[in-house]
Amino acid sequence: MQTSNALDPQSPFARAIYDLGIVSGIIFALIFIIVAGGIVYAVLRFRGREGEPDPKQIAESKVVEITWTIIPFLIVIFLFAITLRAMNRADPPPAPSPDLVVTGHQFWWQADYPGSGVTTANEIHIPAGKPLCVRLESQDVLHEFWVPKLTRKMTNVPGHPNYIWLQADKPGSYIGQCSEFCGTQHAWMRILVVADEPSRFEEWQRAQLEVAQAPLNHATAKGLELFRTQTCINCHAIRGVPGADLRVAPDLTHVGSRKQLGAGILENTPANMRLWLKSPQHIKPGALMPDFSITDEELDQLSEYLSTLR
Ligand code: CUA
Repeated sequence: MQTSNALDPQSPFARAIYDLGIVSGIIFALIFIIVAGGIVYAVLRFRGREGEPDPKQIAESKVVEITWTIIPFLIVIFLFAITLRAMNRADPPPAPSPDLVVTGHQFWWQADYPGSGVTTANEIHIPAGKPLCVRLESQDVLHEFWVPKLTRKMTNVPGHPNYIWLQADKPGSYIGQCSEFCGTQHAWMRILVVADEPSRFEEWQRAQLEVAQAPLNHATAKGLELFRTQTCINCHAIRGVPGADLRVAPDLTHVGSRKQLGAGILENTPANMRLWLKSPQHIKPGALMPDFSITDEELDQLSEYLSTLR
């Protein structure tokens, strides 16, 4: 299972932050041990005992005062230098044009690949080993993109694009989440970054560019009809379906190929697809998808149709 552990960096950008944290942490621990140790030693060694004279008093010692000014000064300079170096490594200047645009919505992520024209949601595929420049935007409120193993966190600000670099050293799945409170379902804005071998990434990209699978049987044809008549079409796009080109909500052209539903709240299985369509407000209260009153048979048809969109 994938985790989102910031202490397990899997990219040069995340590693720069991790290394800074470790080196600074060691310095802070040493300072604590020396200062606390000195206090404990002084308390025990120079404890006042009855009948004993006061220990020797030292005042205005130039050696002591210069020493305890210069040492902290050098420590601060060193921390400043390694912090600057880590900032440069973790956050290089953006490329002239981004490889990926990630837009935060209440409560999901839109991912557009300007180079190829792919649009998807919540599940972001990247080629392993290649740094991608990501432009972060928001459609509504502040969100924050954070995939701890791969990169720094950065806020998605409406009307003000921010940039990060994203890379995974090895193929694998990496979990991230929105880390800026953005409303009732802030906790269910998961990001799944899937790093593929470059050839598999090309394959994925080609598959995503295909138009949607046409209905193959009566049930899925009814499902498509429901998609068009039950107002799904007012928010969701399915490329290849005439009129279905609004992207207020996730693009569903290849929804069946994604691993999760509702930005991570459910595994994407046909049964869960049906559950989700039956009552999104029960599964993800406050999500912007309302409950629709459709019959069980219609539910079967609509979920079967959407599950075929691979
Ligand atoms: Cu989006 Cu929190």
